[in-house]
Amino acid sequence: MTSKRADKKQLQLKKVRVRPIKLADLDKIEQLIKDTILKTNTKDYVKPVIDFMLGVDPFRPRNTRHERDYFVAVDDAGICGIIGLKDNEVKTFFVDSAHHGKGIGTALLAHVEKLISARGYPTSKVFSSVSARGYYEKQEYGVISEDSSKAGEGIMLRYYMEKTLRKKQDKYE
Ligand SMILES: CC(C)(COP(=O)(O)OP(=O)(O)OC[C@H]1O[C@@H](n2cnc3c(N)ncnc32)[C@H](O)[C@@H]1OP(=O)(O)O)[C@@H](O)C(=O)NCCC(=O)NCCS
Repeated sequence: MTSKRADKKQLQLKKVRVRPIKLADLDKIEQLIKDTILKTNTKDYVKPVIDFMLGVDPFRPRNTRHERDYFVAVDDAGICGIIGLKDNEVKTFFVDSAHHGKGIGTALLAHVEKLISARGYPTSKVFSSVSARGYYEKQEYGVISEDSSKAGEGIMLRYYMEKTLRKKQDKYE
């Protein structure tokens, strides 16, 4: 990345903060997840799989918020991304497609990776969509296995991926 682009990204990121989800966020988040599936994941999955995702993913934060941690990214205009966490596994990770490539996903992922590390886990894991595999690879995740599961009337391919989290002192070695 050129330094000018990196500076611009840094400037945009200053306006974004990550905070725990609130009940009042749920409607907006459901819409954000639906829109992102329709704009981004449709490029990688057939319609029956997209229909399955639309019926399940938007409602996960509402249905599982007592068992998982959820965090949202908020900028001047409101909520622009969401990420979930169960133990050391990243869940329900979506950034509003109008905001892709601005570093919001990375801010959310860094937030949960820090939490995973603080909880004593050496690795972070995720079932990645086909759409996000390249993103996770850039974030130093590697594919452990492929998973093809029934998703409604379709079969959904995902990649089980893992990253070894660096301990703080590694930076100085
Ligand atoms: C995956 C996702 C959350 C990333 O969010 P984002 O805010 O766009 O990510 P960032 O801006 O932090 O991206 C950081 C870098 O990864 C790159 N990147 C983003 N998505 C990528 C992809 N699918 N493949 C390869 N590189 C990707 C960006 O270009 C950027 O590169 P740069 O630092 O060189 O500029 C977002 O693309 C998304 O919502 N995808 C659809 C939903 C989905 O499939 N979620 C994953 C469920 S497991």
